[in-house]
Amino acid sequence: MPSNRFIVLDGVEGCGKSTQVRLLAEALTDRGYQVVTTHEPGGTPAGERIRQVLLEPGLAINALTEALLFCASRAEHIAQVIRPALSDGNIVVCDRFSAATAAYQGYAGGLGFDTFWELDRLAADGLQPDMTIILDLDPQVGRQRKIEESDGADRIEQKSIEYHRRVREGFLQYAQRVGSAAVVIDAARSIEDIHAHILQVLGIE
Ligand code: TMP
Repeated sequence: MPSNRFIVLDGVEGCGKSTQVRLLAEALTDRGYQVVTTHEPGGTPAGERIRQVLLEPGLAINALTEALLFCASRAEHIAQVIRPALSDGNIVVCDRFSAATAAYQGYAGGLGFDTFWELDRLAADGLQPDMTIILDLDPQVGRQRKIEESDGADRIEQKSIEYHRRVREGFLQYAQRVGSAAVVIDAARSIEDIHAHILQVLGIE
């Protein structure tokens, strides 16, 4: 069993994390591991309802409310999906988690890291990812990718490019603060190169 059992991929919009979650899960499955892939916000019936509120275009929600809703989705997700999956011996690969709350609401939204830690500690109930991999990319490049592949921006994607630049900086600051529990990798490279780098970070041969 690899030492990293709860793995999170995160980063700015359009950084390619969902593709990398899929490739990582396939690589782990090919090596004989049982894998559960999941995502935030969402991953449970109540979480998916919370996700709809959070992403509704044009809906006014302030940073604290946003953070509480993301944390509510997380508390449900941990209780219903993540802890049970880990207890059953699965590796959990999660598309976004606490790093996103730190970057989007804590840093870019102006709530501050202290408030983020407080809310996240409550929501996560002592559960921390073994490894968070941050896919680092210029938000302008990520936004262009998103425009090409989707038919409309959600409430958070609609925020200004300055906000998304702060999100990028927030991810980098989060990574610094958690030390060896996070690794930042360059997501401007090819899908194959990024995948290989992720396997290397996780020590998967
Ligand atoms: P997704 O498009 O990667 O599924 O993520 C949904 C959006 O939610 C994305 O814009 C990032 C945002 N988000 C936060 O702002 N805070 C959080 O804690 C999480 C998990 C996501």
